[in-house]
Parts: sequence; C-alpha cells; structure tokens
Amino acid sequence: MKHFTSVNDVAEIDKLIGQALEIKKQPFAKQTLGKNKTIGLLFFNSSLRTRLSTQKAATNLGMNVIVMNIGTEGWALEMEDGQVMNGTGVEHIKDAAAVLGVYCTIIAVRCFPTLIDKEQDYSEKVLKSFIKYSGVPVVSMESATLHPLQSLADMITICETKQTANPKVVLTWAPHCKALPQVVANSFAEWTLKSGYDLTIVHPKGYELCTDYTDGATILHDQQAALQDADFVYVKNWSSYNDYGKVLTTDTDWMLTSEKMKVTNSAKVMHCLPVRRNLEVSDEVLDSANSLIMQQAFNREFAAQAVLQEILETTL
Ligand code: CP
Repeated sequence: MKHFTSVNDVAEIDKLIGQALEIKKQPFAKQTLGKNKTIGLLFFNSSLRTRLSTQKAATNLGMNVIVMNIGTEGWALEMEDGQVMNGTGVEHIKDAAAVLGVYCTIIAVRCFPTLIDKEQDYSEKVLKSFIKYSGVPVVSMESATLHPLQSLADMITICETKQTANPKVVLTWAPHCKALPQVVANSFAEWTLKSGYDLTIVHPKGYELCTDYTDGATILHDQQAALQDADFVYVKNWSSYNDYGKVLTTDTDWMLTSEKMKVTNSAKVMHCLPVRRNLEVSDEVLDSANSLIMQQAFNREFAAQAVLQEILETTL
C-alpha cells in the first residue's frame, strides 16, 4: 500500500481487518518497526478521535510523531498552479508539501470539504496535492469526500460483532442543526458494499449520495421500512449532494429512537462520533447495550495501526 485515501487502496479488506484484530490483541508486537521514522499529522480541521488514535497507533509502532494544526498554525496555502501570489496564499502547496516530505516518512492529512463548490471538493485537490508534491506515502485522516480510517474501524467493529456472514446493514440519515459533509456516509457505503454486506440507505428525498459510492445499495425513503430486520444501524447526518451543501430538512422525526429499533433484529447501533445526542440519536439508544459507539472509537487505533504497519512493511 503506497497511500491510504479510500477502500480502493486496499488490496484485501479481510486481510487488513485480520491484521487490525491481531494488533488489537498485541499492540506493541512491532514497536521497533517505525524506529527513526516520522509521521506528520496535519490538520486543516478539528479532531478528537482521529488525532489521538493515529498518534497512538504511530507511537505503538515506534514512530516519531509531529502534529500540526496546519489550517490555523501554518502559512495560508495557495492551491492553484501558475498564480501570481499577491493574494491571501503565502506559500504554494507544492513548496509546503515538498518540505513536509523531507521532514516526514509518512504524511497524514485531514482536509474537509468547503460544502460550497462541489466540483472543487470532489476533485480532492488538497489531498491529491500532498500526494503529488510530498513524494512520501499520504494517509487520509478524512478528506473532502471520504473517511477511510473511520470506515476501516467500522468494518473491524462489524466483523467482530456480526452473528451472520451477511448481516443487513442500514445507513440512516439523521437530523442535524448544521450542514455536514457527505464524507462518512460515502465512505461507509463504499466499504460496506466492497465487504459484500447487504446495505440499505434511507434518507429524506433530496439527500441522495453520489452514486459512485452507493451503487449496489438499496435506497429507501421510509425509515421504518428500512429498519425492518436490520442487524446493524449506522446513524449519520449529511447535507445534500445534489443541492450541494444545503440542509433541506431538519425533520426531528428522523431521530433514531428505541421505539423505532423495535422492528430491527435487535440491531447494533453505530455512529462515528461526535454525535448530537437527542437530535441524531436518543440518549436511550446511544447508552443501550446495543450501542457500538465506544467499540468503534476504540477500533480507530487499530485501524490506523494496521494501515501504518502495512505502509511501513510494504512501501518503506
Ligand atoms: N470520527 C471522527 O473522525 O472523530 P474526530 O472528528 O473527533 O476525529
């Protein structure tokens, strides 16, 4: 694995999940693998889980870790080629990324979408620029379109929890007070389908995701019908893809409640966190025995460590 930006960078999902589960049993088994190697964790956006789990994973492998809130502490970056740089951009991405590639063996980047310009966001300009100019492996810590480290942790969680080989997985839209990216939903759909699970996506009309990620899923608009016999229910808000970045409804009837869960197959409930309690999901559901939210968060460390280990062993 050279870079880790989507499920398409993974040769065998099951093998990577297996490696993560081995790491979970013995996190320090390869604590010299990353000796004298440095990872730079670069954040254009806020984080709790991704920052700490990736830092911990790299440390477990013996790596040196540099963390930088590049969006607030770095120079403002110019992303376009050939510009006369007499505006807000102080340093061109080609120079900044090349310098970071000199300091770091691996670069990990978090760069959210603008939710204003769909074409620009879905082109993944920032992530691709780091790949193009740094000359070192690049790991996405959530980009404009995908969140593969979260999705890998989600697949690990489903793998260690499922009762049948092909569980029914439901991704349900939930209300929110802010416009959020489609990133987690895109990525979860992509990884779930590539894992061969039966995926149903349910959302209000107008919240269709980009079909590049959802082809093969059943798409419904009736939440109760979708939840019928579900084994896993993944809750997430996202803003409109077609009416890009818009909040089309905040209908509170879409919140996941214990009452709605009664038609499921005693389903496990998942959310990537952070979650808006009693807006997206009720306290009762999140704090129930069927909630996997802490297991997902715990597995973020082993997902990150499996990816870094794979890069260190196969590319460096
Ligand atoms: N789920 C997730 O990526 O959490 P953070 O935004 O806190 O990193």
